[in-house]
Amino acid sequence: MQIFNKNIALREFLATVTTNNSTIGFVPTMGALHDGHLALMKQSLQENDFTVVSIFVNPTQFNNPEDLAKYPRTLEADVEKMRILNDKIIVFAPTVDDIYEGKTTAQSFDYDGLEHQMEGQFRPGHFDGVGTIVKRLFEIATPTKAYFGEKDFQQLQIVKKLVAKYEIPVTIVGCPIYREASGLAMSSRNERLTPTERKEAAIIYAILKEAKSKFQTQDAEIVEDWVKNEFKKHPLFELEYFVIADESTLLPITFKEKSKNYRAFIAVFVNNIRLIDTITLN
Ligand code: PAF
Repeated sequence: MQIFNKNIALREFLATVTTNNSTIGFVPTMGALHDGHLALMKQSLQENDFTVVSIFVNPTQFNNPEDLAKYPRTLEADVEKMRILNDKIIVFAPTVDDIYEGKTTAQSFDYDGLEHQMEGQFRPGHFDGVGTIVKRLFEIATPTKAYFGEKDFQQLQIVKKLVAKYEIPVTIVGCPIYREASGLAMSSRNERLTPTERKEAAIIYAILKEAKSKFQTQDAEIVEDWVKNEFKKHPLFELEYFVIADESTLLPITFKEKSKNYRAFIAVFVNNIRLIDTITLN
């Protein structure tokens, strides 16, 4: 399996193995790989001649230094998982210096307002960091298609906007959420939960499903209040937000319109570990 730590080496390698007609699939990750990541890789392997996976914990997208420090870093195990999946995967695991060249700061982006909602509101600067790293990784890996999980649905919409605004020649592919048997959305952060917390965290998806069912017959405000009350009953969890929003603009719903697609978004703390999830509502 080819593993590169320097962007120049990856670029040189891609230049030698690809032709003008080759397709490159790209899966950007921050490591601590789970089955959701592996599903993105499988899709990329099926749809492209080459698949590049990046493993890079991007400092500029963390607004909370403790979250950055505690983010799981499991490169060896990650490489092993990819080797078992398919040893043709090309791994890019750069250092912070290789990416940021001594200036670890984010560029500032205008995503036409998508960045002001939900994650943007509670994690200031987060989407500037995401835009900075995704743009940089696209320059290095020059993908034909790039694969992103729908769990980070706001990120997915923002990356689509970034690509459109900067006219980056890549197709962004959104892939379904992978869930643990309990329904908990797969996330690298789940590794930090205790077994009890992990079991209890199944409640997040259970509440989302119930909210979806209520949304069919009740006003969004009533559903939102119901969710807030449910979390009050569970002291292990601290609800940061539950928002019902228009899927394309991400603006919170004002009144239900038949022609619109709505989605619920949630962020919950379990003992300082922040989990997010989302569900389509109609
Ligand atoms: O979704 C993630 O893991 C990260 O935000 C990404 C896209 C790899 C950028 O660092």
